[in-house]
Amino acid sequence: MRIRILGSGAGGGFPQWNCNCANCRAVRAGAPGFSPRTQSSLAVSAEDGNWVLLNASPDLREQIAAAPELAPAEGDPVRASPIKAVALTNGDVDHVAGLLNLREAQPFSVYAAGRVLQALGANPIFTILQTQLVPRIELRMDETIPLKGAGVDLGLTIRAFPVPGKIALYLENKNAPNFGTSAGDTLGLEISATKTGKSFFYIPGCAKVDEPLANRLRNASLVFFDGTLFHENEMIEQGLLGKTGSRMGHINMSGEDGSIAAFAPLNVARKIYVHINNSNPVLNAHSKEHAAVRAAGWEVGADGMEMTL
Ligand code: MLT
Ligand code: MN
Ligand code: ZN
Repeated sequence: MRIRILGSGAGGGFPQWNCNCANCRAVRAGAPGFSPRTQSSLAVSAEDGNWVLLNASPDLREQIAAAPELAPAEGDPVRASPIKAVALTNGDVDHVAGLLNLREAQPFSVYAAGRVLQALGANPIFTILQTQLVPRIELRMDETIPLKGAGVDLGLTIRAFPVPGKIALYLENKNAPNFGTSAGDTLGLEISATKTGKSFFYIPGCAKVDEPLANRLRNASLVFFDGTLFHENEMIEQGLLGKTGSRMGHINMSGEDGSIAAFAPLNVARKIYVHINNSNPVLNAHSKEHAAVRAAGWEVGADGMEMTL
């Protein structure tokens, strides 16, 4: 199984168009230790020429252009794509807007939780993906199902499970607060290769590593995990946004309640942060925070990083 990080940034990417924080200024200036990052997405293949996207970011066009494997191959019909399916972890803009890049009457499948399918269904712009060509398939929690698209079995299975998180920002209701988690708002995905049985986890948004999640991840070979913030309060402290990480549905890396501490006893062979927000000091490869996550056995995800499993 081959996995490519298409985008390792959080919503807004790095630099973010309207952000003048120290990190965004440094990456714009080409400072050493800083690399630009597009928004949150992975591509996976059973190495048969077909690909599944895990989330579809607003930067998808650029991400496809940077990955020749995702373009039509020589000898393909005049309209063709190796992208046969998209699986979504939530309904956030940074994870669904890229579906609109996949219009032009190309068949593929969309897999998502019922609540996310409802949100897509309530927005007429997504009817541009006609359901006869682009079926929407509900991911039921803790069911393992084969990934298929455009009439092809993709040689991979998917199992979705709920993780602590939050409803998409644009669905928050200030009058009847619904900022917590309802099952299906935020998913983790376990993707397995049918042939080899090897598997990895993709969890780009997660508010807390609770007991059920810790049990699931123990002894995993590879986990891509929510790397939004280093500190719970960094958005507030940098004057960017008046919200803590928990209010945004994202666990911080550092501290007693952070992901570094939560993963320490889990014996995960390879752990990679993705969905990294532009405020996060680990984006500076020369920072003490970057050194701290590396010393704790984590990798800081970067666009274009590839691995086989
Ligand atoms: C998030 O990860 O919290 C969201 O992408 C925020 C947003 O929708 O801007
Ligand atoms: Mn996001
Ligand atoms: Zn910034």
